[in-house]
Parts: sequence; structure tokens; C-alpha cells
Amino acid sequence: MSNLILRPDWHLPERQVTSETAFFNRRHFLLQLGFAGTGLLATQGCGNVADAAANAPKAASKLYPPTRNLSYDPGWTLTDEKTAATYNNFYEFTTQKDRVHQLTTKFEIDPWAIEIGGLVEKPLKLDARELLEMMGVEERVYRFRCVEAWAMIVPWTGFQLSKLLEKVVPKAEAKFVKFVTANRPEQMPGIQRLRGYPWPYTEGVRLDEAMNPLTLVASGIYGKPLPKQHGAPLRIVVPWKYGYKSIKSIVKIELTATQPATLWETLSPEEYPFESNVNPAVPHPRWSQASERLIDTGDRVRTLPFNGYAKQVAGLYKA
Ligand code: MTE
Repeated sequence: MSNLILRPDWHLPERQVTSETAFFNRRHFLLQLGFAGTGLLATQGCGNVADAAANAPKAASKLYPPTRNLSYDPGWTLTDEKTAATYNNFYEFTTQKDRVHQLTTKFEIDPWAIEIGGLVEKPLKLDARELLEMMGVEERVYRFRCVEAWAMIVPWTGFQLSKLLEKVVPKAEAKFVKFVTANRPEQMPGIQRLRGYPWPYTEGVRLDEAMNPLTLVASGIYGKPLPKQHGAPLRIVVPWKYGYKSIKSIVKIELTATQPATLWETLSPEEYPFESNVNPAVPHPRWSQASERLIDTGDRVRTLPFNGYAKQVAGLYKA
């Protein structure tokens, strides 16, 4: 794997990830990958909010609006919805955060087959709609922290992954849960451009992490079905880990005996390790993780161990 490929804009120090410098950073990134002059740069612009709204799945579901679970509502001020919908990481489409919502419009999300299998007694293969009807959904307000040192607070709609895993009955040998994103180069221009990446996007957690009540399968945000740029129709949310673990648009959940290879760990294990718990005391090799920038207000705030969820998850890491 060439070094040039290992330089997405995540690798920029967080102080450089600002709207003022974003253009130059992207240009630098594209130049490194040999894309300058392709016309890509000419088409970028500020996030178009109308596009973001149009990018939500059309079919209104009876699952929305969801009931908020007040045990997961600490009364925090939510991040502005439009900012969250126009500042996205979804490399299958583009590395430019403000263009993901535009480039996902033609991505087909209905029907959507999802498979839960591997080391389980009762594997499932069903459509996303059936899964949601079977599981039911609720709303929870979570903090979300990207490895790039930006953060947001959003209300997710979804269900606990643990409840789904209980239904499929993990075998005794199952120790990890692997997640896989759809792999459709014809609808995902980023896959065609980032040819050296080990697609499909794959992530994973330990089985005990997957069983923690905080780990969600999310189908919605801000009380509505997920817009495509946020990972429709189904994504994972693991709020005490850096955002790259919260994999989007999943087609497969597989229980395994050994730790699965993940896209980012395969590309750069020192920078994007498998465990990746939010930790202000451990800097990324090229920037500090001590603080984070809220994407809507620009405020810089202290990063909390486990992204503020130490009480719920620190026990998982005692050993
Ligand atoms: N999932 C897939 N399939 N592809 C991606 O590029 N990016 C990750 C994560 N999930 C990513 C992904 C990263 S780095 C972050 S920070 C979050 O998605 C961003 O989620 P959001 O755009 O909904 O805020």
C-alpha cells in the first residue's frame, strides 16, 4: 500500500480542519492522490441545505417520530441539524465533508437486504424495514466524537444492538462482531477514486462492547429516517469510540472468533487502532486529542475519557 494512499484529510492536524483552510487541505489531498485538475475542485461549494433535506428517504415510516428514551437524554443542547447533515465523513462517496450530501443522492437504499450471521445459532437475512419493525426503535441523545477532533450532540433513532444479538443467539466461540458497508462502486464515486483502499468499509468491536446497552443500530437522526449522508438506512453508533467505528450503511453483521480486519486499522494501525476509545490523554500521532471543536458553534471544549461514557463502559477495559 503506497504512502500516498494513507493520507486522507483525517490525517491533518485538527487545527487545520477549519472552513478557512479546508479548500487547501482538500487540494493537497487530491494532489497527493493525483486528482488535481480533474474538475473535482471546481464543483465544490458550501453545503446546500435544501439538498440535505431532499436526501432523506421518501417513504415516511410509522416508526417516526420515535419516542425519546429519557434515560439517554441528559438535556444537552443539540447540534444544529443542518450543520450535521452537511459536514459528513463517508469516503465511499467523497473525502469532502460538505459534498457528501450531494453525492449520495443517487445511492439506492430501498430495498435493503441485511444479513446477521457468522457464529450464531439463528442467522437472519431480511430487509431493513422488516428488521426495524421487528426490533422497534427509540430516540437517544448521544455525544459523537470524530478522531479528527470535531464533535456533535445528536438524537439518534434506533435499537440496542444487544437485543438483536440476543435474537440470533451468539455461539460460545463468538468473540467479535464485524460490520460491513455496502460496496457499490457504480453508486459510490469515492470507491472508484480511492482504489488502494481495502473496500468494503469494514469495522468491528468485541462482543462485550457490542452487548453494551450504549451500542446502537441507528435508522434515524433528529426524529426522522437517516438522510443518506448519515448512513441510511442502517448504521452503527458506538458513542465512546472515535467516529470511524460508527460504520454507515451496513449490509452485514457477522460474529467471529477472531478480531476482524477493519479498513482504517489495515491502512494505518498506529493512527486508527481497532479499540479506538476516546481518550484525551492519548494524542493521535499527529495531533492532540485533549480538546474538540463543536461543528456548529465552533466552540472548543475539553475531550472527556470515553467521550463522557466512562461510567457505562470503563469496566469493559479493566483487564
Ligand atoms: N462509514 C463508512 N461506511 N464510511 C465512512 O467513510 N466515516 C466514519 C463513520 N462511518 C465512514 C463511516 C467517520 S470517520 C465518522 S467521523 C462518521 O462516520 C461520521 O458520521 P456522520 O457523517 O454521520 O457525522
